[in-house]
Amino acid sequence: MKILVIGNGGREHAIAWTLSQSAHKPELYFAQGNPGMRELGQRVDIELTDLNGLLLFAQREQIDLTVVGPELPLSLGIADRFEEQGLKVFGPKQAGAQMEYSKAFAKKLMADYRIPTAHYRFCQDLAAALSALDEFEAPYVIKEDGLAAGKGVTIAQSRAEAEEAIHQAFQKEMPVVIEEFMHGQELSVLAFCDGKTILPCVAAQDYKKAGEGNTGPNTGGMGAYAPVPLATPELMARVQQEVLNPTLQALQAEGIDYKGILYAGLMITPEGNPRVVEFNARFGDPETQVVLPLLQDDLVDVMLATVNGELHRYAETGLSFKEGAKAITVVLTSAGYPGDYETGKPIFFPQYLSNDVHIFHAGTRVLPDQSKVTHGGRVLNVTAIGDSLEQARQRAYEIVNQIRFEGKYFRGDIAALPAQALQSQAKN
Ligand code: AMP
Ligand code: GLY
Repeated sequence: MKILVIGNGGREHAIAWTLSQSAHKPELYFAQGNPGMRELGQRVDIELTDLNGLLLFAQREQIDLTVVGPELPLSLGIADRFEEQGLKVFGPKQAGAQMEYSKAFAKKLMADYRIPTAHYRFCQDLAAALSALDEFEAPYVIKEDGLAAGKGVTIAQSRAEAEEAIHQAFQKEMPVVIEEFMHGQELSVLAFCDGKTILPCVAAQDYKKAGEGNTGPNTGGMGAYAPVPLATPELMARVQQEVLNPTLQALQAEGIDYKGILYAGLMITPEGNPRVVEFNARFGDPETQVVLPLLQDDLVDVMLATVNGELHRYAETGLSFKEGAKAITVVLTSAGYPGDYETGKPIFFPQYLSNDVHIFHAGTRVLPDQSKVTHGGRVLNVTAIGDSLEQARQRAYEIVNQIRFEGKYFRGDIAALPAQALQSQAKN
């Protein structure tokens, strides 16, 4: 079996590693992958936006399954193109990818089908947006409507700050969604969806702020852990009934055959109610790095069942995850990230890694002499599994401390406290 994985981050390395563990022993190809992934398969030199190139490659090589990591190719319609040619692809078509790339689409769908989320106004011109602020109170949530990789959201503490964010959005000619601010704890639920059945993975939490105690600027993610104690079986049953099932029904009613991962970013309110913050049309990064290593089922089988519309085979018991196991990921970054940083710093890896620890690459490069250097803001992800979160933490940080490169930075408090407990501490 030949599988092509599209993307080059820590998420894609974790997907590739999990696929490599499959009983199907797939031959793996990566467009374009990263130096860590190259140990698991073959690099293909095609850009992830080059849909023609990817399609021709998949046809020529008779790829059995293409797994799309990032949102950009999905929003460009890669799944439509592949399916038209009869190729199997894991990831929704463009209409489904709107759940992520159009906040206005996702918010309207939720409103129309009564899926719990923050009240909102979609504003296509500056004057309307400024006057819509009257309907909300601080903190104001302002979201640019477009693919922004998490950077298009401003939580404004004052009206002046909110107006500034709105002006900035319209300078870029981006319409905005203004939302009610929701209090509570965030939870990431990655669910496999075949268009008829939707099944969640264990819930994860990610740490978005650069600094310890959830301080400093937002990043692409500084760490994650799973499963989350907050996500009790009772809460997950409610997530299924109140969020996942109605969302699938809404997609069906809109004529959207959604196949792939539906990522529900949830706010669990102080009263314990799940409400949707956002949807993504793909695996989360760095949540995938903790969720997939815990998956007990064979990922190739689950992905094929998703693409073939056969997820009902797993419906009775749900997807299985390693009993009692906990996972944590710590992200190692270059000094200065998410601002300016230097690259090209030699990386020294530990000699020995136990089976419970994985180093996923995110921003690295291999030199002609085969040595590896830093090549991005987020450089490496260290994932560890343990019988307790504390054990997983110890295992991860032991390796984090052994990895060396100039300017290495990481948060020391991943999974020490739930992300939002830290958040409320930071505010007090
Ligand atoms: P999004 O890109 O929509 O996920 O927003 C990025 C982050 O902003 C989320 O993960 C939340 O931490 C925060 N956020 C977004 N919308 C809201 C909201 N309505 N209430 C509170 N926090 C929010
Ligand atoms: N961890 C957040 C995301 O993948 O969008």
